[in-house]
Amino acid sequence: MAKTKTVFFCQSCGAQTPKWIGKCPSCNQWNTYVEEVIQPTSEHGKWQSDQPREKKSAKPRLITEINLEQTPRIVLPDQELNRVLGGGLVPGSLTLLGGEPGIGKSTLMLQIAVHLPGKRVLYISGEESEQQIRMRAERVGKLQSECYILTETTTQQIFKQIEGLQPDIVIVDSIQTLYSATYESAPGTVSQIRGCTGELLRFAKETGTPVLLIGHITKDGTIAGPKVLEHMVDTVLQFEGDRHHVYRILRAIKNRFGSTAELGIYEMQGAGLAEVANPSKLLLSQRDHSLSGTSVASTMEGVRPFLIETQALVSSAVYGTPQRTTTGFDLRRLHILLAVLEKRCGFKLAAKDVFLNIAGGIRVEDPAIDLSIICSILSSAEDIAIAANICFAGEVGLTGEIRPISRIESRINEAARLGFEKIFISRYNLQGLELKKDQTIEIVPVGKVEEVFTNLFG
Ligand code: TYD
Ligand code: MG
Repeated sequence: MAKTKTVFFCQSCGAQTPKWIGKCPSCNQWNTYVEEVIQPTSEHGKWQSDQPREKKSAKPRLITEINLEQTPRIVLPDQELNRVLGGGLVPGSLTLLGGEPGIGKSTLMLQIAVHLPGKRVLYISGEESEQQIRMRAERVGKLQSECYILTETTTQQIFKQIEGLQPDIVIVDSIQTLYSATYESAPGTVSQIRGCTGELLRFAKETGTPVLLIGHITKDGTIAGPKVLEHMVDTVLQFEGDRHHVYRILRAIKNRFGSTAELGIYEMQGAGLAEVANPSKLLLSQRDHSLSGTSVASTMEGVRPFLIETQALVSSAVYGTPQRTTTGFDLRRLHILLAVLEKRCGFKLAAKDVFLNIAGGIRVEDPAIDLSIICSILSSAEDIAIAANICFAGEVGLTGEIRPISRIESRINEAARLGFEKIFISRYNLQGLELKKDQTIEIVPVGKVEEVFTNLFG
């Protein structure tokens, strides 16, 4: 009998070695190698990886001679998701949806599965029973599509069912539970995940059926299993947010059919996920204007401007080392901003605790939020409230200068639309700034942090 062949895989990046090693040379992670058997068995499915495929003779063709077949996208019943995907689901595409446990991945997918009139959807679940899925489906609203539930984890069986059913869309919850008999290792291991994704990819491309995969995320925020998964699929979506808050953000990390700048916002309700069409209104609704330590930033997430409240609390430090804590903002960035305030503007914050919070539990990566954060910190430190009709948009540099930011017009327009009367922006953003004729909002150009301070607190 032939000896079983085993190799060691890095669970983090998918690198392969014949021997166990402690530190992965390709991603530098420690203790990520696991042993897996790679011995193909004889059971073959239709979209098996080692099945010979008929060869198409490929000849070089002039790029202009290639027909642009307009494949109509499947427009989903969810506007946020459509936008993130770049206008709907592309036939034959493989989409991976990642997110932490309990964030709402299954809910989002099931909502799509049951709300597609005239489509036959196959929802394959290796995680929940038929009854559980039915119960959840009852919660998310009226059933409109021909939705089939299959609780099966073996890909060979799944493909058999798919062939009989001929669905228009296939959803798999989750890729980590799938098992292909081609590979002997257990479900969830690198070779299984990679193998099963490969089979689904082949199925999607050959039949033109779009496949949506749910993938779990590890603690450090990467999609569990190998990174190779991200290279194989066409689109990687990430569902994020704080589990204890109601808002969820859907981002495209990779998209072969659209931009990765788009983003969808949802609210988790009793009856599933609701689209949030006007995020600014929601994120600003619970403001108490007479309190110090809050200000409003005009930020962009993707190509959508929205206004968000930043809150800071500056208080005397009880311990020798002052505490700095953030929610929804990078802690290191806060340290930089505090150092800038200390060094350039002479604010003595070294003996103060600083706590920072972005409203709604949303994580903002836009650097334009800096100015608002600095103003919230100053407002709390001085205990003077900032007027409710002012908002801010600017990045703060290490010398305390207010740096220009992208898409300033949309930010100003959004602020004006929501009734703000003043917006502080970088002086350097004024060049080439084209505003609407009837713009009512007053623009306050500032060049340095000190200027903002004098302007606000005199
Ligand atoms: P779920 O989709 O199971 O998360 P995932 O598949 O990402 O692990 O969502 C789980 C959470 O969503 C659960 O804690 C309850 C909440 N939820 C609601 O608040 N309302 C609803 O209508 C549904 C279906 C779930
Ligand atoms: Mg789930």
